[in-house]
Amino acid sequence: MKIIRKISEVKKIQSNKEIALIPTMGAIHSGHLSLIEKAKENGSFNIVSIFVNPIQFANKDEYKNYPSNINSDIEILKKLKVDAIFVPQIKEMYPKGFSTNINIGPIGNVLEGKFRPGHFSGVATIITKLFSIIRPDHAYFGQKDAQQCMVIKKLNNELNLGVKIFITPTIRDNNGIAISSRNKNLNESQLKAAESLFKSLCLGKKLFDKGIKNSKYIKNEMEKLILKSEVAKIDYISIANFNNLEEIDEITPPTLISLAAWFGETRLIDNILLK
Ligand code: PAF
Repeated sequence: MKIIRKISEVKKIQSNKEIALIPTMGAIHSGHLSLIEKAKENGSFNIVSIFVNPIQFANKDEYKNYPSNINSDIEILKKLKVDAIFVPQIKEMYPKGFSTNINIGPIGNVLEGKFRPGHFSGVATIITKLFSIIRPDHAYFGQKDAQQCMVIKKLNNELNLGVKIFITPTIRDNNGIAISSRNKNLNESQLKAAESLFKSLCLGKKLFDKGIKNSKYIKNEMEKLILKSEVAKIDYISIANFNNLEEIDEITPPTLISLAAWFGETRLIDNILLK
């Protein structure tokens, strides 16, 4: 496995296969592994980027505390026989005076964008940089970050970046909790309480499947379920049009039910798609 640390070294990659990029912020977990597996199935030359992108964190402490263990990441990725990893330096990605940022428009300002101002501008900027540096044919993202996937698809289309975007299903633990680097920060009782997120999404889907279309009613039932635990604090429960993320009163698929909640100091997100 080639370890590339400098942007100029990326140009030296020679492969007659298509290039796949799996962008990550490290702390590699089973969610990332499923992205890598999918890329392998497609038979491409697979590059995993590891870069904790400072400009996508609205909160400095969250950035400082973001889990990072580059040596163990390298070992895991070697075992997975990834072809190359790209581990750029902050100084090279954002040299002094760097000021460009990409504004994705309204879908970047709702839900996660509302609670984490600037987040999607940071994501869109780093993804544009990674696509420009690596020039991948394919790129892989997880459905857990549904809004991020929508932002990246829009960016890719509207700026004609020409990358084929693959979205892979959310990976969950045995209790339904969506796998995330942040889960490591939960203690036992918070982990137990966090199970309510996926349970409430399933409840939302079940009510819809039974014929209930009223978003307010469904959101209320979901909220009651999550707040059975005193540990949970909800940022939002959203029922929105899957194409533009505008909130809807009556469900007409495709609809995204998504939510974010705090368990102690840890904020988790999750979603389910109604087709
Ligand atoms: O989902 C993530 O890990 C990050 O937002 C991404 C896509 C690697 C951009 O920094």
